[in-house]
Amino acid sequence: TIEQRVDSIMKLMTLSEKVGQLNQYSGREVTGPASDRKNYLLNDIKSGKVGSMLNVKGVKDTREIQAIALQSRLKIPLLFSLDVIHGYKTVFPIPLAESASWDLDVIRKSAQVAAEESAASGIHWTFAPMVDIARDPRWGRVMEGAGEDTYLGAKIATARVLGFQGDQLGAVDRIMACAKHFAAYGAAMAGRDYNPVDMSKQQLHEIYLPPFKAAADAGVATFMNSFNTLNGVPATGNSYLQRDILKGDWNYKGFVVSDWGSIKEMIPWGFAKNLNEASEKAILAGSDMDMESEAYKKELESLVNSGKVDIKFVDDAVRRILYKKFELGLFDNPYRFSDEKREKKVMNDPSYKKVALEAAQKSIVLLKNTNHLLPLKKDIKNIALIGPLVKAKRDQAGSWVVYADTANIVSVYEGVKQKVRGAKLTFAEGTAITGTLTTGFANAVNTAKNADIVVMVLGENWDMSGEAKSRTEIGIPGKQEELFKAIKATGKPVVVVIMAGRPLVFNTIAAQADAIVYAWFLGDQGGNAIADVLFGDFNPSGKLPISFPRNVGQIPIFYNHYNTGRPVTKPNDIRYKSAYIDAPNDPQYAFGHGLSYTDFHYSNLKLSETILNKDETLKINFTITNTGKVVGEEVVQLYIQDTFASVVRPVKELKDFAKVKLKPGESKEITFELAPEKLSFYHEEKGWIVEAGEFKIMIGAASDNIKLNSLFELRDR
Ligand code: IFM
Repeated sequence: TIEQRVDSIMKLMTLSEKVGQLNQYSGREVTGPASDRKNYLLNDIKSGKVGSMLNVKGVKDTREIQAIALQSRLKIPLLFSLDVIHGYKTVFPIPLAESASWDLDVIRKSAQVAAEESAASGIHWTFAPMVDIARDPRWGRVMEGAGEDTYLGAKIATARVLGFQGDQLGAVDRIMACAKHFAAYGAAMAGRDYNPVDMSKQQLHEIYLPPFKAAADAGVATFMNSFNTLNGVPATGNSYLQRDILKGDWNYKGFVVSDWGSIKEMIPWGFAKNLNEASEKAILAGSDMDMESEAYKKELESLVNSGKVDIKFVDDAVRRILYKKFELGLFDNPYRFSDEKREKKVMNDPSYKKVALEAAQKSIVLLKNTNHLLPLKKDIKNIALIGPLVKAKRDQAGSWVVYADTANIVSVYEGVKQKVRGAKLTFAEGTAITGTLTTGFANAVNTAKNADIVVMVLGENWDMSGEAKSRTEIGIPGKQEELFKAIKATGKPVVVVIMAGRPLVFNTIAAQADAIVYAWFLGDQGGNAIADVLFGDFNPSGKLPISFPRNVGQIPIFYNHYNTGRPVTKPNDIRYKSAYIDAPNDPQYAFGHGLSYTDFHYSNLKLSETILNKDETLKINFTITNTGKVVGEEVVQLYIQDTFASVVRPVKELKDFAKVKLKPGESKEITFELAPEKLSFYHEEKGWIVEAGEFKIMIGAASDNIKLNSLFELRDR
């Protein structure tokens, strides 16, 4: 068995070799020109002081470095890891965009393609998926997750883990996944990256942990801890998170890698006085592998020798890491993933473009469509494309692009051109993405005046979201909204396509644009997907996975908030109510919102019972009909409210959803099952409990667009 093989190797290992397995270096330099750093890394690899490398990729380089690791005494192979976040060679939509698809098959397929490409390039392990719930769009890393909702986030976490890893670890065309960042990183105070997190146990367990639990249940091979503190204790040194919850309650058998330098960052946090203490705290708390702190490498042997750290902690970490190396088959063939022929074949697989196109189409959210301006007719004579992102390629890829050739990305200009070969297509940039230049306005306005319709492509550049890309203002940067006003003043119909890595605030555009297409960063096939939506070759079906605020002052804003003791019941009566005097409480666009070119009618809601016992499952049935003229897909959403409980409950909580494709006139009956655990909540003293009482059922097209509702009662038997 693998256990026996791990044991037999561990018997041969010196303490220094054990500690080596816990050390991970980043090392682009290791294959670069001669340098001190290169020598340093190579020496450590050769002498068994490294368990894993990050940022070495490609068959040639991984083979070369693996061969050096095999010169070490025990010939333990290295794990090659990389941030394969939304595609490797083929760039997929950013994770937040894909989450807007609510399409678990597409999400799984996209992770699978990323795995196939990176596995063929010598990579064993990705630092994805990020499963952090994020309710603050100032935080740049919202782009990397599944948005604000726990239920949706947990489903997507599972889909991504299975996509990367397959059903069982060890296939040569899959890679290990990593659920990150454990935990609560998405709640960084004020949306500023790496900031502290203070939260109740209830919030932690109910909102932030379930996607991690889902990833663990799906067999995720590894976890990464986070940069933040949780209630005063850095996650890296946090035994409550890593020992009590993850390795204790959840009985997790994979290993935990620290985030980049997060062990040594416990010193500036003021949690450890030096690297020695930081190492001690990290290993005791359950951080198994040290990414780039060199803390374990420098301190762990002496900590064990002095008796401060029991060897059993080191052994446990080593065992977990070696186990994964065996599962991947690396001891049998350390070069399994580094096969030149496969690399050539897989990297040019044309079928991946199709998957990327489907993912991009399904990620698009139609926010507004006044008078059914969209879809545009293909025989349109004269179209003006205006804005700094019309011809964007690199920007359309978004952050975390590690390998792709972004020159291959299809821009909106190219996508539209393909679609309307006979039409006159004019282009004006108008202004840059950032900065204050308005000299291009006049030309853009003239271009608009000579067109029948204007499509503006506006937004952020790729580098304004992602790690360490927090913003205090989340408007469309630079002079782009001014440009919109100038174009709108021509009186031409204006469609605005917005590219961004987060929800942006764009009140003028929201009020005045005739149609708004939220395109996030869609990757390789973005331009084609956007053109398909603009011209009706694809009927948009995306729904927002995160609320869009009206202004930064509303943040954090999320649909599953509490009612308060003084809720606003009439919009014009806010005196001494929980409200703002200068803005409404509700978002510009709510969680779950997204329009279609067809209409859907919801009817015939039936519950299997109206009174049921706490251990029973409720069945909910209703009918959905496509009452419009074209085929369309709708994401039907089930929300509940537990109306009274021993702990106050949110006004709404997503508990299920389904994506339904319907032809015009077609109806389908949908059944949702509400099992007891979906009615449970976390109680600070009692843990997860289900309480008797009244529940509301709400079926809708969005969290703010409930179509059917009903009540039922849960009782103690
Ligand atoms: O995987 C990432 C992590 O999400 C943020 N810090 C760096 C790591 C490795 O690149």
